[in-house]
Amino acid sequence: MAHVLTLAGSPARPSRTEQLLHHVGHRLSRGQGNEAGHGTGHRIRHLAVRDLPAEALLAADHGHPAIRRAVASVADADALVIGSPVYKAAYSGLLKVFLDVLPRTALRGKPVLPLLTGGSPAHVLALDYALRPVLTALGGDTVLRGWFVLDRHITTGPAPEAEIRLAAEAEPGLAQAVGELADALTARHSAGIPLTAGSPAA
Ligand SMILES: Cc1cc2nc3c(=O)[nH]c(=O)nc-3n(C[C@H](O)[C@H](O)[C@H](O)COP(=O)(O)O)c2cc1C
Repeated sequence: MAHVLTLAGSPARPSRTEQLLHHVGHRLSRGQGNEAGHGTGHRIRHLAVRDLPAEALLAADHGHPAIRRAVASVADADALVIGSPVYKAAYSGLLKVFLDVLPRTALRGKPVLPLLTGGSPAHVLALDYALRPVLTALGGDTVLRGWFVLDRHITTGPAPEAEIRLAAEAEPGLAQAVGELADALTARHSAGIPLTAGSPAA
């Protein structure tokens, strides 16, 4: 069992992106996409960047306890699912200020699944031109292809963690993306790379 951090980069509340991340987290915790794996699901932790103290985040105050805990939660994760809405043809500025407080190699050795939600299929390429490069720059050596979901393909539930309904068009691509993350974790396990799951919560 691996410890997967879902990281939400939308300032909105409620947020389609965040509910999509919870949906992916539920799949991973139930062991979906893990047919080749070890039967059990993964342990999920969640971090919404908008819940961090804005002043400390903008000032890159590494000494602030909430920022320290958030940075540690990335370090403690075996893998991450990083989600952002597309804003002005890129990922959100909120996500960027958090990525900017991370150490230079924060994502080294961790499979990372990037997810974007957006209003226009014209901005699918924000995944390849904006989000994936910055994750690679953070040492991400296993940044998966990721997936872009149109906002109109997500019907959100009433509560932040409520199950979403996903349009049929969006389902196969998302299932494949989740499967790729599960496979990457299985490959790490098979290679004997130790997982950090079970370490104390950050
Ligand atoms: C300020 C702002 C800028 C946006 N810019 C884009 C854009 O450039 N391209 C796009 O496809 N969608 C754009 N959108 C739409 C959002 O990406 C989309 O609705 C997303 O699913 C919202 O996710 P959220 O509910 O998690 O915030 C924008 C939305 C906002 C509020």
